[in-house]
Amino acid sequence: MGIPMKTLIIKYIPRKEQSNTKKLLDAFKEEISYSDIEELDLLDEVPDMLLDNNLLAYINRNILGQTLIPNEEKLLSKMDRMAAQLKSADIVVVAFPMYNCSMPAIVKAWFDSVMQKGVTFGKRTDGQMFISNAGKKALTLVSCGSVDDNGSFRCREHTISLSISEFQFMGYSDVRGILAEGMAMKEEIKQTNLNKSIFQVRSIAKEWYKKKEYNSVYVKLRNKKHMNFAYTA
Ligand SMILES: Cc1cc2nc3c(=O)[nH]c(=O)nc-3n(C[C@H](O)[C@H](O)[C@H](O)COP(=O)(O)O)c2cc1C
Repeated sequence: MGIPMKTLIIKYIPRKEQSNTKKLLDAFKEEISYSDIEELDLLDEVPDMLLDNNLLAYINRNILGQTLIPNEEKLLSKMDRMAAQLKSADIVVVAFPMYNCSMPAIVKAWFDSVMQKGVTFGKRTDGQMFISNAGKKALTLVSCGSVDDNGSFRCREHTISLSISEFQFMGYSDVRGILAEGMAMKEEIKQTNLNKSIFQVRSIAKEWYKKKEYNSVYVKLRNKKHMNFAYTA
């Protein structure tokens, strides 16, 4: 990957300064403050949902290879802008809280906007070229209220693993996720988990941005007691 790298941050942090997720993201940003960063706040620019008209336009253009008339193209303009923004970045970081065992709908709408056949994955409609995101990296940062202390709580499987699957599907080479669990638990557990997650986040940033003084200290932590996870795909 050539230098300078461009980093795209996608965030959905509605609780703003009170947010646990923001602490993870802030830690990452502190480590990379010298690099080229673009930020998309999904609360400022809400992604389009796939509704009947834009879905049809997407299928006609990206899957069937049809040429759209300008009014139909217009239906896809926000999705196209977001997809182009994603394509322009070497590293993407997505940060959001877990809601109801999954990613918030607004974050899923962002994935639905940017995952375009022939643009961010798969073959171009003219069949000439496969889209490649090889060499690119993606990190997902999530916090949630509970912990998985006996393996019966499967929410994380639908949250961070979904985000990881989406980036893998788009062919990203290095796909990772950090989940800070137990944010609704007693203060001691919350702080312990948050600190571990922040350490993991900083380690990934140092590894990816090759800060010489740290030299790849990324550790896959799985603390059985307080259940704090790092995922590496
Ligand atoms: C609407 C809503 C749904 C939530 N659903 C879950 C859930 O399914 N599992 C869980 O462990 N925590 C859940 N939580 C707790 C949050 O994920 C947790 O408090 C998180 O740290 C909030 O992130 P924030 O501080 O960045 O806002 C939910 C919170 C809200 C507001």
